[in-house]
Amino acid sequence: MPKHCLFFTIIGIVIVVIVVGVTVPVVVIRKSHSSYSPLPPTNVSIILPLYTYPSRAAWDPVYEKLNNHSYSGIQWTIIINPSNGPGDELNANYRVGILRLNAAYNVNVVGYVFTDYGRRNIAEVETDIAKYASWGLFAGIFFDETPQGDNQSLSHSITYLKSITNNVRKTPGFIRQKTTVIHNPGTTVNSELLDLGQNITIIVEDTFTNYKSLAARQVISEMSANTSRTRLGCLIHSVPGNETVDNPLMDLLSELSQNFGHIFLTDKSSNYYNNYDGIWNNFINSTSLMY
Ligand SMILES: *[C@@H]1O[C@H](CO)[C@@H](O)[C@H](O)[C@H]1NC(C)=O
Ligand SMILES: *[C@@H]1O[C@H](CO)[C@@H](O)[C@H](O)[C@H]1NC(C)=O
Ligand SMILES: *[C@@H]1O[C@H](CO)[C@@H](O)[C@H](O)[C@H]1NC(C)=O
Ligand SMILES: *[C@@H]1O[C@H](CO)[C@@H](O)[C@H](O)[C@H]1NC(C)=O
Ligand SMILES: *[C@@H]1O[C@H](CO)[C@@H](O)[C@H](O)[C@H]1NC(C)=O
Ligand SMILES: *[C@@H]1O[C@H](CO)[C@@H](O)[C@H](O)[C@H]1NC(C)=O
Ligand SMILES: *[C@@H]1O[C@H](CO)[C@@H](O)[C@H](O)[C@H]1NC(C)=O
Repeated sequence: MPKHCLFFTIIGIVIVVIVVGVTVPVVVIRKSHSSYSPLPPTNVSIILPLYTYPSRAAWDPVYEKLNNHSYSGIQWTIIINPSNGPGDELNANYRVGILRLNAAYNVNVVGYVFTDYGRRNIAEVETDIAKYASWGLFAGIFFDETPQGDNQSLSHSITYLKSITNNVRKTPGFIRQKTTVIHNPGTTVNSELLDLGQNITIIVEDTFTNYKSLAARQVISEMSANTSRTRLGCLIHSVPGNETVDNPLMDLLSELSQNFGHIFLTDKSSNYYNNYDGIWNNFINSTSLMY
């Protein structure tokens, strides 16, 4: 082998060693971090559907968190649903229970009103709104099954949602200085539906698996880029895991916090707005660590 050939072979080997030596560790380091969110987690508030009846100890898991100083940084929006809506009268158990929730300054209690995807008569919706307001215990309204504005129904959805939202704003009797109006289409919607005077729109109400596989994930991040994440919420059930030591919930919360300001997570796959155990402790603890 001629001398200069040997020289170039050695140079070549040196280059290969350098390239491999530098790139392989970089790739490995990148890989080991790829399961983590690239952006730092940020504060989120809890949006809690508390649909269970306040019999003796039923709301204790909630009071326990509200009274714990470790969690005093968390903001809560708590949805109450006495009778698939307000029902006729609010009984003493509800009054006592809601007063206990309201005693925490960081809680907004809102009343559940369904809209049947914009098909429910607006006069009936307004009767429900007036009833919640008249009780002097609620800080706003959670509209469920709000219209999703597909194709030709977009203009109807806009008119309907503006009308019921304005109705809450002009109805006296809601407590707290700032009234909260929430729309729950439960899925990503036309961006024109995000700015109709409501404070929060729930654009995911689904299982963890569906959220993870959602073709709409791209749409979600576009929506949160268009609208502040503080105006978007998600309710995710059937979340796996009950670990407290190695905490995968923290990763999920970090990821969600990039796009959502208002979050509820539960491991339940049925009656998920009536049970506060399983990942409940872990969810609250992890949320408190996001600040
Ligand atoms: C309050 O929360 C902290 C942190 O999770 C926990 O260690 C503590 O036991 C809780 N205190 C009470 C009285 O539940
Ligand atoms: C409207 O939406 C429905 C349901 O997504 C769909 O079946 C229908 O084809 C759409 N109509 C038009 C005109 O786009
Ligand atoms: C909700 O939005 C209205 C209208 O923008 C605002 O006046 C109100 O303060 C907001 N409520 C909360 C709790 O921020
Ligand atoms: C974001 O806003 C732009 C401009 O208003 C709009 O064209 C686009 O559809 C919006 N994207 C989403 C996902 O809402
Ligand atoms: C996060 O904290 C900021 C500053 O305190 C506050 O303005 C914002 O509303 C908080 N976001 C949520 C989703 O709680
Ligand atoms: C979660 O773990 C705790 C502690 O091991 C246990 O008491 C509880 O029953 C578990 N919950 C579920 C839903 O697995
Ligand atoms: C809260 O979460 C942290 C971090 O995952 C963990 O170290 C701590 O033990 C948890 N505390 C409770 C009371 O679950």
